[in-house]
Amino acid sequence: MCGIVGYIGDKQAYPILINGLKRLEYRGYDSAGISILNKTTLKVFKKKGKVSDLDDYASKQDTKGTIGIGHTRWATHGEPNDINAHPHISMNGHFILIHNGIIENYSRLKEKLTDRGYKFVSETDTEVLANLIEYIYLKGKVTAEIAVRLALSKVVGAYGLAIICKGEPDKLIAARKGSPLVIGVGEGEYYIASDATPIVEHTKSVIYLNDDDVAILSRDGLNLKTIKNDSLTPKIQKVDLDIGEIEKNGFDHFMMKEIFEQPRSIFDTFRGRVSLEKMEIHLGGLYSVLPKLVEAKRIIIIGCGTSWHAGLVGEYLIEELARIPVEVEYASEFRYRNPIIYPDDIIIAISQSGETADTLAAIKLAKQAGATVLGICNVVGSSIPRETHAGVYTHAGPEIGVASTKAFTAQVTVLAMMAIALGHERKVLDKKDYEELIQELYAIPDKIEKILKSNNSFLKVSKKYKDATNFLYLGRGSLFPVALEGALKLKEISYIHAEGYPAAEMKHGPIALIDEKMPVVVIATKDKSYEKIVSNIQEVKARKGIVIAIVSEGDTIIKKLADHVLEIPETRDELAALLAVIPLQILSYHIAVLRNCNVDQPRNLAKSVTVE
Ligand code: G6P
Repeated sequence: MCGIVGYIGDKQAYPILINGLKRLEYRGYDSAGISILNKTTLKVFKKKGKVSDLDDYASKQDTKGTIGIGHTRWATHGEPNDINAHPHISMNGHFILIHNGIIENYSRLKEKLTDRGYKFVSETDTEVLANLIEYIYLKGKVTAEIAVRLALSKVVGAYGLAIICKGEPDKLIAARKGSPLVIGVGEGEYYIASDATPIVEHTKSVIYLNDDDVAILSRDGLNLKTIKNDSLTPKIQKVDLDIGEIEKNGFDHFMMKEIFEQPRSIFDTFRGRVSLEKMEIHLGGLYSVLPKLVEAKRIIIIGCGTSWHAGLVGEYLIEELARIPVEVEYASEFRYRNPIIYPDDIIIAISQSGETADTLAAIKLAKQAGATVLGICNVVGSSIPRETHAGVYTHAGPEIGVASTKAFTAQVTVLAMMAIALGHERKVLDKKDYEELIQELYAIPDKIEKILKSNNSFLKVSKKYKDATNFLYLGRGSLFPVALEGALKLKEISYIHAEGYPAAEMKHGPIALIDEKMPVVVIATKDKSYEKIVSNIQEVKARKGIVIAIVSEGDTIIKKLADHVLEIPETRDELAALLAVIPLQILSYHIAVLRNCNVDQPRNLAKSVTVE
């Protein structure tokens, strides 16, 4: 949600900021803005729409200056327009700031400031903060840093902030609570960003800010402290991110690039963890909690969106292979419904970004209840891995397309590794099954490679149904969450209404919707419910529905029944989700492109949801 970028150094700030915003645009894309301080002249450029609209407007003007901040917005308070776009300037022009997050007590603060003569031009909570800082600065005659710290002590909510004070033109102030911020450390220069993507082309040395940290950056150095003024020693880390990983590399969209990366990203996820030679699975990140996991009486998986779907596949895998009861919950529901959590429960939080506000809050709740909390995250150094007791990174590489693809298969890969390892430790799996599962997991990347070669047949089917207004997705067992994920992908990027259902549930409602205009995507691979799903297909056909079936290679029975079949290689039932989801991702992609939708930045969505 909202992208932040900042620079202080000897270089021209504008090219760095605009390029940084382009890299961060996946976080929010309804409006953007940049502010540059040149000695004592402050320039502000803001535009509704894309970063390219801002660039068209600002690049024609004087953008000179070596200190500046930029923002790409996902609206919370106030509609997306030029006025509500960040940066926001305080009423008397002393402070300018950009903000990611929500100031929850903003209306009370606004009332108080209004009583003291402050006037507001935007509808945002951020402008309230700019004015609060300025009010304290002027009234208390304190430095910018003190004004910022005092103002933040009065704020309830979440923020990642970058602030410039006109009266202290050689400083950039950054602060974090709940919304991620990374500082890039260069030679006599610093960068600020909501994640490392805009920084890595300039420096690989970064400092991840923690909640309640304030960083005061100048060309001479960095001063890190808490809001309460306690000094901190900055921990500089090397970020392992290659510039090629955040570019499209010849693909039209990040989403397709990321779909095609899956053979590699899955391999990277199990590389060094699954050994064919030793026939073992070794998850170093879980080593400290392994005895607890093996003895667990219950596992609760929490997540949002696609990560929640991965959790549902995980439930199936862990229950099937390790025989530990698993519950899966939306993090947002879990945190607000007074859940029963026992100290010997294991909570697994799944998140691509590692920053999702609801998941973070649910983790905190589970920790307070004394449970052991594990994380499955993609973004290294993000908040969730730091909040959890132990965990496993997915190593899928940066995912830029807003609709999650490779992160999902990497999450399922981690859950599969955990389930197989636990099944082995708990002696649920015999040697033959254990070794076969390891071998099958190893074979998944090549099998996905094979599916990707059928891209053209997926395109053909997409062309036929691109104008449908509804889609139904059906699956059974671990393929039911894949049906949910297929439906989510389609609605997210093509805006076609789509629903996922367990195939057997179709007759309890959705069957009423089926007519000759309704495409029904049925995941019908050869597994133990094959016969049942064949019956479900017949039920759809009896009502003249259109069946697009995902089948195992060489299937002849469904070929006779369905309107279209898309083949995938055979694998063990437990791992079929990793293959079956690929055609669904590609179908959604093509349909969205054919409908001229913005695939990488679908309307109203954001990649990293750092507000409730
Ligand atoms: C947003 C994204 C989804 C994602 C969900 C959870 O809604 O648009 O693609 O699945 O957040 O995000 P997380 O980073 O926690 O996996």
